[in-house]
Amino acid sequence: MIGRLNHVAIAVKDLARATALYRDTLGARVSPAQAVPEHGVTVVFIELPNTKIELLEPLGENSPIAKFLEKNADGGMHHICYEVDDIIVARDRLKAGGARVLGNGEPKIGAHGKPVLFLHPKDFNGTLVELEQI
Ligand code: CO
Repeated sequence: MIGRLNHVAIAVKDLARATALYRDTLGARVSPAQAVPEHGVTVVFIELPNTKIELLEPLGENSPIAKFLEKNADGGMHHICYEVDDIIVARDRLKAGGARVLGNGEPKIGAHGKPVLFLHPKDFNGTLVELEQI
């Protein structure tokens, strides 16, 4: 059911500094910063030949990554995103298998303009999983 690895997301406290690290030290192609208020983050995409890295910085009061950064002062891997063909079919299959879908269970439009859902990390080996319909 799951397809390609779409991206790995890394939560950071200082987006400008993290972006410079990828651009200047690692020599990667980086996007301009993009505010995504619906998800409480500002995002920079790092384009790699086979996938993307998303750098996430908290945006606004109730950012979902604020708590994560309290626990992980240096930043850290926040989630991984797999591609699916049909997010509703995927969701219903996962729910039938006992996996918990975060939020109200309805897909939201993610930073790439495509529908996304998040799955509870306790059901996936301690890793927050995002599904994105391609
Ligand atoms: Co993501």
